[in-house]
Amino acid sequence: MPATEESKPASRGNGRLRVAAIADLHVKEDGSVSYRALFHEISRAADVLVIAGDLTDLGKPREAELLAEELHACTIPVVAVLGNHDYECGAVEQVGAILRQAGVHLLDGQTIDIDGATFVGVKGFIGGFGSLMLGSFGEPTIKAMVAESVAEAMRLETALQRIDGDRIFIVLHYSPIAETVAGEPAEIFPFLGSSRLAETIDRFRASLVVHGHAHRGTYEGHTPGGIPVYNVASHIEKPSGRPYALLSI
Ligand SMILES: [Fe+2]
Ligand SMILES: [Fe+2]
Repeated sequence: MPATEESKPASRGNGRLRVAAIADLHVKEDGSVSYRALFHEISRAADVLVIAGDLTDLGKPREAELLAEELHACTIPVVAVLGNHDYECGAVEQVGAILRQAGVHLLDGQTIDIDGATFVGVKGFIGGFGSLMLGSFGEPTIKAMVAESVAEAMRLETALQRIDGDRIFIVLHYSPIAETVAGEPAEIFPFLGSSRLAETIDRFRASLVVHGHAHRGTYEGHTPGGIPVYNVASHIEKPSGRPYALLSI
């Protein structure tokens, strides 16, 4: 089933699910930015909230606690993956536990079914795009980086293999394509995602993909196989006119 961008909230009918998707909240422990009003708004505009990584700014448990408190304003299911910032302080287990306790469906190779649609999520990793992708050659540290990139793609593949339905919403933090990181300096493209994710996505019939991480990237693109990809970083201008994208599946 194709997924579409909607400029206005759609009515929930014909089995379509309205999904608000956002990434890169970067919640700080000083509480300088509040998402409470936005979560309240999203609860009225959509049926599901997706957060595509970098929920916290430095991966501090206190930041996760603040976000968990603000998520009380969200009355719809929340599906999320972690981003690189959520790993920064080495407290990722604690951050994940706090968010799960707040009711967030935090995906790291798992799936969650909501009203007939299946959400699958992994963080993804760096590595670059197309023929310029980093190859497994040379020093062990380079090979370890490539192995991590391959492992993330395989975690996604393993999850996709278990899905029966045809309404599949993929949530990543890193981009699977170069098109949606365009706008960032070309020198850092290899650190914004990996085509290995797109190769996996194109082998399965996903409806759409969202990611974040590239704050200065481009909203919309497609995998080489034609699957829609949306960069939903909160900083990116979207057809909804809001910090979140409104999608349907
Ligand atoms: Fe970010
Ligand atoms: Fe990031």
